[in-house]
Amino acid sequence: MKTEARSGGVIARYLEFLPVNKSTPVVSLGEGSTPFLFASRLSDRVGCRVIIKCESMNPTGSFKDRGMTVAVSRALEGGAQTLLCASTGNTAASAAAYAAHAGIRCAVILPAGKIAAGKLTQAAAHGATIVSVNGNFDDALRIVRELANEKHFSVVNSINPDRIAGQKTAAFEIIDELGDAPDVHVLPLGNAGNLTAYSNGYAEFHRLGHCKRKPRMIGIQAEGAAPIFYRRVIEKPETVASAIRIGNPASWRTAQRAIDETQGGVDVVSDSEILDAQRWLAENEGIFVEPASAAPVAWLLNASVTTKERFLSADPIIACTVTGHGLKDAKIISPHLPPSVPPSARAVRAAIER
Ligand code: F0G
Repeated sequence: MKTEARSGGVIARYLEFLPVNKSTPVVSLGEGSTPFLFASRLSDRVGCRVIIKCESMNPTGSFKDRGMTVAVSRALEGGAQTLLCASTGNTAASAAAYAAHAGIRCAVILPAGKIAAGKLTQAAAHGATIVSVNGNFDDALRIVRELANEKHFSVVNSINPDRIAGQKTAAFEIIDELGDAPDVHVLPLGNAGNLTAYSNGYAEFHRLGHCKRKPRMIGIQAEGAAPIFYRRVIEKPETVASAIRIGNPASWRTAQRAIDETQGGVDVVSDSEILDAQRWLAENEGIFVEPASAAPVAWLLNASVTTKERFLSADPIIACTVTGHGLKDAKIISPHLPPSVPPSARAVRAAIER
């Protein structure tokens, strides 16, 4: 009987491109191979072909799992006892799940009061040790860096290159599916690891001749948490999109380089544009994402004339990554339930037709 993790995880699929070898103990929850869906209504609105990479469909509901399988497998190989990460929520949820699967401990350092309920529930459910600090994500990451040298800790934030290596597999999948890279790739920009990972993935497959072009990389930040857009550290970042409430991104330089080299860009959207886009995507495409993931959708829906001329003319193929599931941060969309009705077909019909 086969007892290994089911095949289809990103290490099984892309082993030769990852920093692992045949003897690395693979810790996988079956991440990757996520849907890449043509979004017809969004495409009509934008006037280009938009295809959505649904990273919300990974095992813990976010793209973090792609990097976590590599980071945790390597940590296990190196004899790690405790995984350690700072997080705005998704890294913590993912690290906690992969640690549980590997049978090792996990400690997550979180900004107190700033984590969406679903993500906190995930970390707790998987048995992680949760430490809330009275500070923001940038403080939490600073502390993790300070603790990183202690031998029994293995840091699984994206400052660990194994995380970035795993995450680049999303770009591989897109190329494998399209037969080439898209013209433009737009995604939310927080700690800037994911944009870096995608551009590494596109560059690697380009070097190997798997695609003819490299996409223009576009990162979208929330207006109140936009250090890369404003080109300065933001001491007190604020946004409803708690996943990207980050004022001093760890991978700032590599992301900026990728953006510059591909003639891409960085832009900002407001909190209300984010929430409107979250609802719009759920209602019009059937894809429910958390607020941070709605940021690139908000950018597409609200593109200015200048943006359209610069990036969206000439009928480009646009890949848009949605990074995390809507159920993680569901309080944002309150259902506004109407009053209940008597248990009769007549009353129910009347309620439907109201
Ligand atoms: N979208 C979601 C849902 C995220 O959780 C994050 C980052 C991002 C986008 C931004 O990606 O940091 O690579 O630029 N979340 C991290 C965390 C910081 O701790 O879960 P990035």
